[in-house]
Amino acid sequence: MKNSFRKKPLALLIEELKSEHRLNRVLGPVALTSLGIGAIIGTGIFVLIGVAAHDKAGPAVTLSFALAGMACIFAALCYAEFASMVPVAGSAYTYAYATLGELFAWIIGWDLILEYGVASATVAHGWSHYFQDFIGIFGLHIPKLFTTAPFDFDPSTGVMSITGSLFDLPAVVIAALVTVVLVKGIRESAGFNAGMVIVKVAIVLLVIVLGAMYVNPSNWQPFAPFGFSGLSMFGHTIIGETGSEGAPVGVLAGAAMIFFAYIGFDSISTHAEEAKNPHRDVPFALISSLLICTVLYIAVAAVITGMVPYNQINIDAPVSNAFKQVGIGWAQFIVSLGAITGITSVLLVMMLSQPRIFLAMARDGLLPKSFFGAVHEKFRTPWKSTILTGFFVALLGAALPLRLLAELVNIGTLFAFVIVCTAVLIMRKTHPEAERPFRAPLVPLVPVLGILTCLVLMFSLPAENWLRLIVWLGIGLLIYIFYGRRHSVLNNPEQ
Ligand code: ALA
Repeated sequence: MKNSFRKKPLALLIEELKSEHRLNRVLGPVALTSLGIGAIIGTGIFVLIGVAAHDKAGPAVTLSFALAGMACIFAALCYAEFASMVPVAGSAYTYAYATLGELFAWIIGWDLILEYGVASATVAHGWSHYFQDFIGIFGLHIPKLFTTAPFDFDPSTGVMSITGSLFDLPAVVIAALVTVVLVKGIRESAGFNAGMVIVKVAIVLLVIVLGAMYVNPSNWQPFAPFGFSGLSMFGHTIIGETGSEGAPVGVLAGAAMIFFAYIGFDSISTHAEEAKNPHRDVPFALISSLLICTVLYIAVAAVITGMVPYNQINIDAPVSNAFKQVGIGWAQFIVSLGAITGITSVLLVMMLSQPRIFLAMARDGLLPKSFFGAVHEKFRTPWKSTILTGFFVALLGAALPLRLLAELVNIGTLFAFVIVCTAVLIMRKTHPEAERPFRAPLVPLVPVLGILTCLVLMFSLPAENWLRLIVWLGIGLLIYIFYGRRHSVLNNPEQ
């Protein structure tokens, strides 16, 4: 039992950075920031904003975006402190190993699969729907058998239904294509990503500028038709109203939902080992990408709710549909194209991050090193686990319904943020002397606010997510007991 709480010494982490078989240091501040934006702007702003405005917050969804962004900024400051101290590939997993011990590190590493792996499958699914929507404009259609997952799940009734489809072919194709790009190399991946980021930011700016001309301020009244709160505890509304499906509504409930839109900024910290100057550039990229996206999101939310009355906002393609509703068809076409591009780059960065977490865990012996630790001779990428990730993303994206996947992602990510904020507090106490090229400001206030805001959002999610999180962590615990604990490198420090 004692072994499960052994910690990886900070000095060892820094020493390991000097060894062979590390990843290539090729990423500068702009590439890192664009990786962040690449991971952030996607399904959340192009799709989820619709449900959040229509069902949860009304025009006050702008406040929901501000609130979720604030929770992320607290967490980002904590990530930045850690990433500058220990610029290795494992992100929150590594930080937990140094502070809370091996068991917590394993739990968080396992939890991050929910954030990166399962989010990728969710995003591949979302990509498929936008893609089909887009080719539909030209009258093209994929045979029904290959359009979606074979079954769907309605959370309001708990009923599963058969869709009449076999599997989601476009989700498989996009997962396979992204896997090929990622195996080939980080430099190519970063270049490919930068191109897509430029396209999607340009389209988001177009939405803001062009949309602003069609805003009718009377659409912002009433501003918060569902109220300003919406706090629940394991699915029971504590403060605020309850919506028709039994879930809480209001600004907070909206924030818990659109939190998904911010997921991804922390993936920058998984690339710390590939940063040319990690001490300075990683904190810069974490914070700048998050701030840029927060501002863009609030502006998009204000424009969309100003263009269309909140109760007429389309739920499947809210942004492009808003332009259709005000009668600018060409903008609808361009925005759809931007959404496809945006979602592709989210997928790219998420699927880039997952193998790097596996890599860090394999180096510590918690996963089989010959597979998860293998770095390709020529491409210098963790190719085997990249292919495995691609396989699972394709499988889950093809076969499971979007809603089931998406719900798990938010709670898993919020949990990781809580651990990182806690770890910063612990590290300040246990290693006050360690070199911190970037220091989170106002400690302990900032990490404590990070923990509290993330917990509030976790509690505001539907209750069954807690159950799924616990089952997932339970499975992980069994793997740790039967594999990780025995094979941990800390058993044989001379390795
Ligand atoms: N933040 C990412 C998105 O919205 C996951 O697609």
